[in-house]
Amino acid sequence: MIKLERELTLEFVRVTEAAALAAGRFMGRGDKNGADQAAVNGMRCLFDTININGVVVIGEGEMDEAPMLYIGEKLGMAEDGAPEVDVAVDPLEGTNLVAKGLPNSIAVVAIAPRGCLLHAPDIYMEKIAVGPKAAGKIDLNAPVVQNLKAVAEALDKKIEDLTVVILDRPRHEKIIKQIREAGARIKLISDGDVAPAIATGFENTGIDMLMGIGGAPEGVLAAAGLKCLGGEMQARLKPQNQQEKERCCSMGVTDPEKVLTMDDLVKSDDVYFSATGITDGDLLKGVRYFSKSAQTHSLVMRARTGTIRFIKAIHRLDKKPRYAVGELIKGES
Ligand code: FBP
Repeated sequence: MIKLERELTLEFVRVTEAAALAAGRFMGRGDKNGADQAAVNGMRCLFDTININGVVVIGEGEMDEAPMLYIGEKLGMAEDGAPEVDVAVDPLEGTNLVAKGLPNSIAVVAIAPRGCLLHAPDIYMEKIAVGPKAAGKIDLNAPVVQNLKAVAEALDKKIEDLTVVILDRPRHEKIIKQIREAGARIKLISDGDVAPAIATGFENTGIDMLMGIGGAPEGVLAAAGLKCLGGEMQARLKPQNQQEKERCCSMGVTDPEKVLTMDDLVKSDDVYFSATGITDGDLLKGVRYFSKSAQTHSLVMRARTGTIRFIKAIHRLDKKPRYAVGELIKGES
């Protein structure tokens, strides 16, 4: 299997920075589609400057739905010897969060050798995610209370001191009741379950677990980040109709009850993950704009070495005026 170069780490963080800088302009403007489009433009341009031979496996949709970063789109300079990679992108994870100026929206990518990221269709996925100390202790098939007990024990905490993040949706009524009955604390979120899944990997975020049903593409991105952190996610696809069941079968998941492990979601240890905050979050600060510059805060990691980098960058908008509005052109980065 091809080994990726460590120098790519910095290249990938530039990709999420560009998306965040563009989308951040839309904070609170009530225009989630505009924000998403700006993030896509910013991210797409930067990929053209990286020497990878990439294919989008998680992206903005199928080719007929999305003009850029669609599934199957080729990315990168692809010069001789360029590594062949799968690329998972979410230029704006949490479109509503940006539109309303709420916390935890991020721009995020994961890159792994070709064939190593689950080509998850845009359907729902049931997830449970924890950081490194509780890795190996969770079981998606076990009752909620059993998972809470196991994680509390692994973290050397009382169940009452655990914080579980869960999307605030009617479909989670039962599980929320069970968590409350067990005595754990809950943080209900309106959108964006990638950032809290990653936050479980850092004790100072105060987030211990993510549970519940969210998007499958977001699940693969979160699993890539958790692989870099030594955390764990278990997941199960939740097709809602016959067509979605057939899509699962076509990607090789014939048993809808199958619990997807970290190795099913992300097959290789040679995975990179980069995220840049758009609005302020538990782990990453959002974009700040100054008179001639802007500041971004990113997390970039590589599973092979386990290195975790937080990168605070100042971008000179007077030198790169189009950087902030997602109108980069190749070579301008
Ligand atoms: P966007 O695609 O609007 O950015 O929403 C992302 C998200 O909130 C994910 O983080 C989450 O997994 C999923 O949507 C939840 O889906 P739903 O809103 O249908 O419950």
